[in-house]
Amino acid sequence: MNPGFIAMVTTDKVLLNDWHPVATSKECQINSINRVRLLEEDLVLWRGSNVESTIQVWQDRCPHRGVRLSLGKVVNDSLVCGYHGWQYNLDGQCFYIPANPQQKPPTGARVRTYQCQERYGLVWVCLGEPTKDVAAFPEWDDADYRQVLMGPYNCNSSPFRTFENGFDVSHFCFAHEGFVGDSQQAQIEDYEVEVDRDGIIVRNLKMWQPDHDGTGVGGKVTYLQRICPLTLYSVKHTCRGRMIFFFTVTPVEEEKCLVWMWVAMNYGDETPDSKLREFQDKLFRQDTVLLESHRPVRLPLVSQKSTSADYPTEVHAQCDRTSIAYRRWLKDLGVTFGVC
Ligand code: FES
Ligand code: CO
Repeated sequence: MNPGFIAMVTTDKVLLNDWHPVATSKECQINSINRVRLLEEDLVLWRGSNVESTIQVWQDRCPHRGVRLSLGKVVNDSLVCGYHGWQYNLDGQCFYIPANPQQKPPTGARVRTYQCQERYGLVWVCLGEPTKDVAAFPEWDDADYRQVLMGPYNCNSSPFRTFENGFDVSHFCFAHEGFVGDSQQAQIEDYEVEVDRDGIIVRNLKMWQPDHDGTGVGGKVTYLQRICPLTLYSVKHTCRGRMIFFFTVTPVEEEKCLVWMWVAMNYGDETPDSKLREFQDKLFRQDTVLLESHRPVRLPLVSQKSTSADYPTEVHAQCDRTSIAYRRWLKDLGVTFGVC
């Protein structure tokens, strides 16, 4: 275990006890081994050889000599280390040492295992004790909607900076001018923000977009957003229908993250999935340059005075009400990972 992970275990249970997507279910077919990283912990994701085998998520480290188990192979419902062939059962316990087949493997030869579940075509992992379920996304299997998965996108930025960017609509008019905003129509009318223990709800967030419903004609859209630490469920109402963004950020490290986004829409069937993805890829490239330029890199939670000797305080405008509420809420929750 590395020092970053130990520090987080003792100080920040918020992300530790939450669910985070680390891979698509498609990548985790039978006999697969995948290597991922979450909250500064290296993980091996593997699935046994049977159709009913469930995905296993373990610390990516063999207790024998500490090499990566993701360099090994799957044999039925066990994982075999690629170095000396020690074999581990579904509990993470070694049950066979090929060089000493008569020896009962030591009880300490046990890999740390974690909880995981598949939701919305993604594999979600919790490194601690889950305190709540994965955020709701009812349109994911609603036949009236078409669903398209975007990303995952890598970003060398704080997971919280990257997530905040997802609900900050006033950047659309400049960072994405001509795509989802127009600098000549940048005004954001006041909107409603409600905070409770489970998160933040934003209602009646209106803005003008150049191609608001995919027909090339500009118009006003209204957003409803539900925000919990790193997942945003956002509904955009246009005159043609509803477009849902299920946006979630995986905290890989304090200054590194992965971004996933499902789009579900009940209109616009004429636009192929590939065009929607291309569009989103372009938007994310525009965002990445900005996101990787934030200083400080981590999200400042205290706005009254500077939290850094190197950088002055960040200042807010009225349109930043959601960000202000979000930062306060994270501070009240006791989040320390990826923030300053
Ligand atoms: Fe894994 Fe030796 S390091 S079996
Ligand atoms: Co953006």
